Amino acid sequence: MEALNLENVLLEIETLKNSVKEEINKCSGEGQLLAVQVKYLGRKSYLVSLTKKIKDLPDNIKPRVGKAINETKEYITKLLEEKKSEFSLSEKRKTRGAYDYTLPPRPFPIGHRHPITQTIKEIVEIFKTLGFSVYESNEIESDYYNFEALNIPQNHPARDMHDTFYLNLANPDKPAEKLLLRTHTSPGQIHIMEKLTPPIYVIIPGKVYRYEDIDTSHLPMFHQVEGLAVDKHITFCDLKSVIYIFIKSIFSEITDKEISIRFRPSYFPFVEPGVEVDMSCVFCAGSSRECNVCKNTGYLELLGAGMVHPEVFRHVGYDPESITGFAFGMGVERLAMLKYGIQDIRAFYENDIRFLEQF
Ligand code: DAH
Repeated sequence: MEALNLENVLLEIETLKNSVKEEINKCSGEGQLLAVQVKYLGRKSYLVSLTKKIKDLPDNIKPRVGKAINETKEYITKLLEEKKSEFSLSEKRKTRGAYDYTLPPRPFPIGHRHPITQTIKEIVEIFKTLGFSVYESNEIESDYYNFEALNIPQNHPARDMHDTFYLNLANPDKPAEKLLLRTHTSPGQIHIMEKLTPPIYVIIPGKVYRYEDIDTSHLPMFHQVEGLAVDKHITFCDLKSVIYIFIKSIFSEITDKEISIRFRPSYFPFVEPGVEVDMSCVFCAGSSRECNVCKNTGYLELLGAGMVHPEVFRHVGYDPESITGFAFGMGVERLAMLKYGIQDIRAFYENDIRFLEQF
């Protein structure tokens, strides 16, 4: 007992505190924590045996040792508790994640598809129900695919209608030939026919480019959807019914009025006969009175179409005697403008959230 002087006791307690702290920190589970608790606070622990010896201590140091023992016990208990709650928190996190699912959600504005993408999707869905498959085609084309194979030879006046962006790139397949940005989706027809054998029922949506001044109805980049059907007995009647079903389906949403269509003779080198298709104006119902959408004509110009020209079939090695087909091409922006009553094509690409939000 002589060894029990105050200084030694306090020193031992201090050392003990340090080792407890270290051991608790190292604990990785509740079991280990319990072992530490037994070791330092249990019946056989140093603190308990020291408590028993207090009665033999000189009176003047009794209270100080007693106090030190109690403080140390409290200190150890606190460390144990803290570690325990750390364990249970990490257990909760493991099972529930770090979130409180009972909190109300923060409002989170969710975006949506661009109106042009939505329109393309709508067009695609209608043609899918009619048995058409969807293909994509190159935006960079050669002169051959964009013009030549579509029966638009060099110096053909129809080339003037296509203000073409030529690229400063040579065609790797034909170095003498310049590449260009496709001016329409029609070259997709050639690629498809080269790849597949009839029967072919496809649509080809995509971007097209024209070197044009920007105004309310023109942009240097816009979208088209091309259609192509090639089979043994395709007639103009088939073209007419497919177009009619399409127009009715896409516009029925905005009008309950009867929609009529009109085929006007027109010229596109890759079809014969070629037509432009108009629909009765959904805004004035064909009454042609004071309508600034149809400009009082009662009709809206929608798309170009026709029966595939025999020359086009020859370019892809098909026999025009045994096969026929129809093709059509439409401008997506124009269609969306008519559908939603938008007067200025630029609205689609100004990225004004107040405009985009409405779709
Ligand atoms: N490619 C034509 C254009 O961009 C549109 C067109 C007209 C496509 C008649 C066709 C068609 O497939 O048959 O002006």
